[in-house]
Formats: sequence, structure tokens, C-alpha cells
Amino acid sequence: MTQTRTPEYDINPLFIDRWSPRAFTGEPIDDATLLSFFEAARWAPSAYNSQPWRFIYAKNGTEHWERFTGLLSEFNRGWAQNASALVILISKTTFVPPGKTEASPATSHAFDAGAAWASLALQASLSGWHTHAIGGYDKDKARVALGIPDDYVLQAAIAIGKRGDKSQLPAGLQEREQPSPRRPLGELIAEGEFAFA
Ligand SMILES: Cc1cc2nc3c(=O)[nH]c(=O)nc-3n(C[C@H](O)[C@H](O)[C@H](O)COP(=O)(O)O)c2cc1C
Repeated sequence: MTQTRTPEYDINPLFIDRWSPRAFTGEPIDDATLLSFFEAARWAPSAYNSQPWRFIYAKNGTEHWERFTGLLSEFNRGWAQNASALVILISKTTFVPPGKTEASPATSHAFDAGAAWASLALQASLSGWHTHAIGGYDKDKARVALGIPDDYVLQAAIAIGKRGDKSQLPAGLQEREQPSPRRPLGELIAEGEFAFA
């Protein structure tokens, strides 16, 4: 924890200990470890317990790796190629409601997938690993390259790795290689009615 991450109220340290570095070691991640992160995500809550999240992953050093890093923007590929695993998190946009046989639109698939991502990130952090979500990747290219059907939305890429030495990053990114602060809680909550700037 750093000075930029002093909570205003007493919370479990896991929430402020998680942060998103860009310097990774590229070391191998074993299946049991990686799958434990997906396991944590599996237990996230979702509307109707529909569990719309799906995770497509590649581990560094495998035949899949370059196909995954090739989806990232140049900026993100620069650092994320040293991750141990890359994940594309997608969510299913339809589900079959309880007692029905026909699929309906899943109105909260993105919200639910976000909950799963948070669980994955927190479990990784608890296990001594780091995650870094990535929006800067080519979703159209990823859909084709990974064979993702039309009824799934691509939500984010996620880099997973062990923290590396920040000297491997370009100078500008070295300065940013630290936990970030948050808005004051008072800007985020309102009792009774909307009261935000
Ligand atoms: C959906 C999403 C997309 C993001 N996209 C990128 C990205 O393309 N490149 C990047 O370097 N960081 C990306 N980030 C990381 C955020 O900038 C980072 O999570 C945020 O600044 C908060 O910092 P923290 O995760 O260290 O607490 C993304 C995060 C999320 C949740």
C-alpha cells in the first residue's frame, strides 16, 4: 500500500493492494494457479445466475501467444507481451430464463462480466500475482482470430503476470508504474437522491 491508497474507512487490505502494473517478468504460470483465478471469477453473482462470462486465454510461450499479443494495440503490446497469460473476457448476450425454453436478451451481461473480472483480479492479487485490464485491442480482429460468435460481446483483455522491474518500461511509463489514487468517497455516494456535480 502507498500513500496514494489510504482508505477513508476500514476495509480489507485486499481492495487497495490490487493494482495494475505494466512491468511483468514473463515467467510461466502453472495451470492450477491460472485456473484458480478463473475459479474465483466463476463464483461472481449474475442476473438469474446466468453466468454470462467466458474466458479465452493464452499462456506466454505457447502456440497461442502471438495470436493474442497480435490483437493488442502497439502501446499495450509493448508491455503486455511480458505477461504470463492473456485473457479475452467475453459475455453472452442472451440467456434462457428459468422456466422458459426460448432465449431472451441478457440485459446485465456486461455488469455481470465486470463482477467476474473483479473477482479474478482480487484472487490473483491475493495469490501474489497482478492483473491489468486492457481495452486497447482490436475487437473485430479478436472475434475472428478466436472464433467468437456474434451473440457474445468482447468486454476486455486481461494481462496476468508477476511484477517485473519497472526499468524495462519506457521512461514515461516508469513514472506511472505505481498504485493510483481514487476520488474521495464523498464524490461517489449520495443519500436519498442524485447529488453529483
Ligand atoms: C476496462 C478497462 C480497460 C483498460 N484499458 C487499459 C489499456 O488499454 N491500457 C492500459 O495500460 N491500461 C488499461 N486499463 C487499466 C486502468 O487504466 C487502471 O485499471 C486504472 O487506471 C486504475 O488503476 P489500478 O487498476 O492500478 O487500480 C484498463 C482498465 C479497465 C478496467
